Amino acid sequence: MAYETIIVEVEDHVALITLNRPNALNALNDQLLGELADALTGCQNNEKVRCIVITGSEKAFAAGADIKMMSEKSFVDVFAGDLFTPESEQILRVRKPIIAAVSGYALGGGCELAMMCDFIIASDTAKFGQPEINLGVVAGLGGTQRLTRAIGKAKAMDMNLTGRFMDAEEAERSGLVSRVVPAKKLMEEAMGAAQKIAEKSMITVMVVKEAVNRSFETTLREGLLFERRVFHSLFASEDQKEGMAAFMEKRTPQFRDR
Ligand code: HXC
Repeated sequence: MAYETIIVEVEDHVALITLNRPNALNALNDQLLGELADALTGCQNNEKVRCIVITGSEKAFAAGADIKMMSEKSFVDVFAGDLFTPESEQILRVRKPIIAAVSGYALGGGCELAMMCDFIIASDTAKFGQPEINLGVVAGLGGTQRLTRAIGKAKAMDMNLTGRFMDAEEAERSGLVSRVVPAKKLMEEAMGAAQKIAEKSMITVMVVKEAVNRSFETTLREGLLFERRVFHSLFASEDQKEGMAAFMEKRTPQFRDR
């Protein structure tokens, strides 16, 4: 599939997907989200890809769902058409890790897309927000749910009710992003993190993603049982033998994803 609203590059086992609708600050429309979902599925199926980075431009990761596209839609259009649901579910099915590298605006659906990724690395220019309330709607892709789990009720209510933007420093302090770096260093930092992950055993990496995500879906007791069982099951892998042998032999492990 030839893409028009995203750019996909694969280098050294890392796929870099750049959202590319500069005239609309990467606003999410059917085409962009469809292309992104398709590209991510492609990465999942491409053995060369071991980690994925999604980024936007310096000014905007994504300024939200496309307001021009949405403005004329009726309830029936968005309900029966299930706006963005199939694409977001396709994105969430990707089992390889996805890092969001956020510079500038990550608003509305843009903030929600970043939160669908496994973690967010932000530049010091990043601004996060759920300003849907100013448009007479609410968040529709996780802004009242994932944001609340990430930063807690008080701040999530504040963001969703006032529509204010949160800067990178506050986002890191609140637990929304894992690291903040100077804008010029953003891609180096994100690609470096992706490279580090790409060197691990893919089996273990996918287990980590599954186990951490499980914590959002279950009780602590069940989550701990799931974690314990996947921990046990990794002893059936060759990579566990290799990883522990390499430690004892004081060498770098050579993982084979088995
Ligand atoms: C469509 C958008 C857009 C958006 C920006 N643009 N955001 N187009 N949808 N979400 C367009 C502008 O119309 C403009 O195009 C161009 O991008 C540059 O934007 P400006 O506003 O001129 O830039 P600036 O003054 O720097 O302001 C930046 C901004 C502002 C603060 C980010 O653009 C803004 O507030 N955008 C909307 C943010 C928002 O409300 N997002 C939530 C959307 S609802 P032209 O052609 O005029 O030059 C949502 C729901 C998700 O996301 C749920 C889905 C299920």
